[in-house]
Amino acid sequence: MNCSGWWVTFFVIFCVLQENGVNGNLPPPCDSQIYCTGDIIHQVQMAKIFDDDKHFVDMSLRDSPAKIIKRFQSLFLRPPARQLTREQLIGFVNTSFYDPGTEMEQWNPPDWNESPKFLSGIANAELRTWALNITSLWKSLGRKIKEDVKSNPDRYSQIYVPNPVIVPGGRFREFYYWDSYWVINGLLLSEMTQTARGMIENFLDIVQRYGMIPNGGRIYYLCRSQPPFLTLMMDSYLASEKNLTFLRENINLLAKEYDFWMNNRTVPVSVNGNNYTLNRYYVQIGGPRPESYSKDYELAENLTADAKPSLYSDIAAAAESGWDFSTRWFYGPTDTLLDTKTSSVIPVDLNAILCRVERTLAKFYTELDMPEMASRFSEALNQRLKAVQAVLWDPDLGVWLDYNSEHQKRNPNFYPSNLSPLWASCYEDTAVVDRVVSYLEKSGALSYNNGLPTSFKNSGQQWDFPNGWPPLQQMVIEGLENTQSAKAKDIAFRLAQKWVNVNYNAFKKYNAMFEKYDVEGDGKPGGGGEYEVQLGFGWSNGVILQLLDVYKSRLTSSAIITSFSFPVLLFPILILTLWA
Ligand SMILES: *[C@@H]1O[C@H](CO)[C@@H](O)[C@H](O)[C@H]1NC(C)=O
Repeated sequence: MNCSGWWVTFFVIFCVLQENGVNGNLPPPCDSQIYCTGDIIHQVQMAKIFDDDKHFVDMSLRDSPAKIIKRFQSLFLRPPARQLTREQLIGFVNTSFYDPGTEMEQWNPPDWNESPKFLSGIANAELRTWALNITSLWKSLGRKIKEDVKSNPDRYSQIYVPNPVIVPGGRFREFYYWDSYWVINGLLLSEMTQTARGMIENFLDIVQRYGMIPNGGRIYYLCRSQPPFLTLMMDSYLASEKNLTFLRENINLLAKEYDFWMNNRTVPVSVNGNNYTLNRYYVQIGGPRPESYSKDYELAENLTADAKPSLYSDIAAAAESGWDFSTRWFYGPTDTLLDTKTSSVIPVDLNAILCRVERTLAKFYTELDMPEMASRFSEALNQRLKAVQAVLWDPDLGVWLDYNSEHQKRNPNFYPSNLSPLWASCYEDTAVVDRVVSYLEKSGALSYNNGLPTSFKNSGQQWDFPNGWPPLQQMVIEGLENTQSAKAKDIAFRLAQKWVNVNYNAFKKYNAMFEKYDVEGDGKPGGGGEYEVQLGFGWSNGVILQLLDVYKSRLTSSAIITSFSFPVLLFPILILTLWA
């Protein structure tokens, strides 16, 4: 390598980095020399031409990748100086790429139904009208991928799937894995079974092709998955449309996705001399996430060459958890993203989800009259129940907690995910229910007007205080509701009413549904994190429809006394009192 001249120092470092493409011996997030690794993504993203790094990696190519790489290289001033100026980069992007979103068409779901039966069950008229408004949002979130993505896949970061999808909304302009579970539940209530089935078929198709389901429908997400809900999507679908043929044709793919989690995402753990196997989020990549390239690159910039790949991997694993980002994954002195150690954590929710997946697969195989496979999954479930009890259950606090396998310690902090084994029925001794309810009452998490906070730490990360997230509310509410405890059911209803209130108050104010909400205040979206709050919004809509259906006769739309309106009400009383 012949880096010389006044720019020596800078370019020696630069060339070495670029020669490796990535750090350490870990692979890049995907092979694409445009979307995942190499000079182009590095220079374009580091120039920050767009506000959000996701913009560039969602652009499609105007030409073949080979021609575009060649065009880029032809712009080098005097090789080996490969750094283009900002103006050159802007010109290059404009002439070589199309705007994001051009590879998809707006799609109007043909099975959209203006009077699904569940609506008429909602007692409160205002909430009923709102529910209809929400079902109408499915029409604005429908997308169909153009055929050219199938014929020329190397010109797109979009992963082709055959059926149209409901996207979350905003910057999330492709399908997402765990989001789709709540979207599908909402679609089924809206009697849009064809659309729901199409989305499940897409995921099955993806398992066939890739052996796993990526975080979302882009090649740059292929190195990481998201919480594994495919089998539970199938379960929701079959509860609406009994169709054993569909199940029989696809059961192998459900098992294959489960095997990915068991072959690639497990960790042995030894507690009190007994050995267990549980699951974790685990990604091995040696470079920044393409859709947040400059943020990740700058975060790792001052680390040693050894520390970089492990940070990139743990950041990607946090994204795989769905909780990107959160102090939940922080272990270390800086209390920043630099302390993200996702791989060391055995998360309660992931293991609860897999517990429910194992039970569901055992049920499916029984229904299909395949007893050997049914007992394989019953056995896996038994192992899991024992491991969850031994490793994650905390006898002192009376709840399940994340376990850090490096420090061999449970994390005592509150997260709604601590209660997820209730939702999954992932326990054998029903005495845990009362203990968990009393943990929840003592935690302080029930004291917020608008639902459960994601944690008690106000870190500026989006999976922390004061944000409340729809899937977390739904899992806790369903978990409490499904117990035999009257107290638990009462808390479930109160939490449902709070969540309905914040969504409804914000809807009246902004005429929109948001991806997350603030558990404080009088009804506003959440904030923080690496991008602006997004509208749409797939899982928010799905969760509200589910809650309106479950508590149809009891929910009200009346405004609550919030921390904002409380002093406003008190003020005139105070004035009157003083005056008198
Ligand atoms: C799972 O891990 C094995 C090696 O342990 C690897 O060969 C395989 O590609 C991985 N599967 C996926 C889908 O990443």
